[in-house]
Amino acid sequence: MNKKIVIAIDGFSSCGKSTFAKAIANRLGYLYIDSGAMYRAVTLELLRRGLFEDGVVKTSTLDSILKEINIGFSFDSSRNSYVTTLNGEVVEDEIRSPQVANHVSLVAAIPAVRTRLVELQRELGKMKGIVMDGRDIGTVVFPDAELKIFMTADPVVRAQRRLKELQEKDLNVTFNEVLKNIEERDYIDQNRDVAPLRKADDAVVLDNTNMTVEEQMEWVDDMVKRLTV
Ligand code: DC
Repeated sequence: MNKKIVIAIDGFSSCGKSTFAKAIANRLGYLYIDSGAMYRAVTLELLRRGLFEDGVVKTSTLDSILKEINIGFSFDSSRNSYVTTLNGEVVEDEIRSPQVANHVSLVAAIPAVRTRLVELQRELGKMKGIVMDGRDIGTVVFPDAELKIFMTADPVVRAQRRLKELQEKDLNVTFNEVLKNIEERDYIDQNRDVAPLRKADDAVVLDNTNMTVEEQMEWVDDMVKRLTV
């Protein structure tokens, strides 16, 4: 039987990380874990509890909330993919809402949140045979992952891809707004104090500006084969 490994994928937002990570997980029969969804689920819980005040999270009850919170992934056959659960409730659509998107960077910068989610992520990784994507997977969560990939793409191309997705959802935004948002998110991800986005020294870089998903799969195929024999 092939050896099971951990594959850590980090990179900028709207780079196609989750599409690529899911494709690898499907090919190998691995579990795909979207760590960004976990930060989004915590954000949803804090919003539901009304814990944001003037753009800041009220921290007095945060520790007990984080201890109780249960985030998982369950297979949804109607979507043919895994969906995020928060205390047993499927929240896959709610965590993609603009309201959550607008608050999640703030929540992802709170050290107590990161400590708790990294603990949960390592727990999920114990079983091996996983592909996890995020910002700090190869640097913080799984520094010993057998394969680390750092994804990047031209911001203009990322904005075009994102704009297409938003237009498909009938959301009315301009190209310049999307590009500005991507550039802001890149800045926040790279410059925050805790676990900023950076390439792990032993990560391989994948710039997919001019690549299809199939080409990305060809690119990764040999590496995966070598590591799993
Ligand atoms: O990948 P995404 O857009 O779903 O991520 C949501 C937010 O969580 C974004 O602000 C980056 C942050 N994040 C993080 O800080 N660390 C991770 N491992 C994954 C996401």
